[in-house]
Amino acid sequence: MLVLIMVQTVGVLTGGGDCPGLNSVIYGLLLKLSEGGVKVIGIEKGWQGFLENKTRELKVTDLDDLHTIGGTILYTSRTNPYKEAKKVKDSAERQKKIKATAEYMTSKFEELGIDALCCIGGDDTLGVAEAMYEYAGAKVVGVPKTIDNDLSSTDYTFGFWSAVQLASNSIDNITTTARSHQRIFVVQIMGRDAGWLTLISGISAGADIILIPEHKFDLEKEVIQVIKDRARVGRKYHIIACSEGAIPTEESLKRDFKTIKKEALDQLPKDNFGNPLLAKLNMADIIVEEISARNDLAEHLKQFDSEFEVRDVVLGHTMRAGTPNSFDRILGLRLGVQAAKLILDGVFGKMVCLNGEKIESVSLSEGAKKKTIPLDSDFIELGRLITKVKYQH
Ligand code: F6P
Repeated sequence: MLVLIMVQTVGVLTGGGDCPGLNSVIYGLLLKLSEGGVKVIGIEKGWQGFLENKTRELKVTDLDDLHTIGGTILYTSRTNPYKEAKKVKDSAERQKKIKATAEYMTSKFEELGIDALCCIGGDDTLGVAEAMYEYAGAKVVGVPKTIDNDLSSTDYTFGFWSAVQLASNSIDNITTTARSHQRIFVVQIMGRDAGWLTLISGISAGADIILIPEHKFDLEKEVIQVIKDRARVGRKYHIIACSEGAIPTEESLKRDFKTIKKEALDQLPKDNFGNPLLAKLNMADIIVEEISARNDLAEHLKQFDSEFEVRDVVLGHTMRAGTPNSFDRILGLRLGVQAAKLILDGVFGKMVCLNGEKIESVSLSEGAKKKTIPLDSDFIELGRLITKVKYQH
């Protein structure tokens, strides 16, 4: 049964890595809530500002065309309110602590002067909101955000296609210099343990080798041998789109890698939510080192009158930078409006999502789940076809 609750003031926060389209969601939410006469309180720096009462009122009239501007006017953080609770070893004790934290967080609504909260974030931020709803009945709704596109229950997260465009443009640009110098370029692309950004921007820009986390790669067979085959059919430069989360198979790691060992992969430092800090690993750099040390490849390329120079480019945070493209502006606005409608209708514990052409909603517990690329996806097949044709003459 739907219980209608009069909401007068709504809080909104953005958490996790920033992303093009965050401001578009905020604007969509504001447009709809303001029309309904509801006051909107911006909470700064995600869960950090929530805990520290860092708030300011947002007025739609002060924020003309906010949806066109990149980043988030609310600032963001990777603060995890459950960090301490999650460290508790005993599972019953851990649950108790998480529940107590969720109750405390929910009790803060009064202090912050809000009746409901809209959380815009990835699986980490939404996971925090979900526990508040599950354990303490908090009036929360979520909006899925991340350039990584790694959230289930939504066809695309906003920010993803803007990041794809940036990465694709960068690979296009790198291709011209790679061609001029006859070089091998390894382009490292964000996305953590999901390869969506790398695969789709790699296909879009015509990368020659694409390495994604969902498929562990064999350096010898899938990189060295492919470059040799490409040289044999006359290709003189090679672009490798490498996901920051791409890792070799254990066999390849043992056989082909001189610069890292398995322990280095297992012992990466982690962020507040336990995600490995992949920037500290820099797989592109490792691959460059390994390729550069291959005398057999140098000999082979010489035989086909090709240079042997290898470089890496880490696109890193440039992929999250700048203004959202039109798709992400519109998606962000629509998701923001839909989140506002849920709140106005008194429906909580939901995450808004894109399903085909429609904006719908799912439970936060469903929405906070991760999505990597299924190995039978047509994107994987397309990636294979588009790269294979370039060395199979
Ligand atoms: O989740 C978004 C993301 O951009 C990932 O692709 C990347 O691994 C991570 O954030 C980087 O985090 P930070 O901004 O903390 O360096």
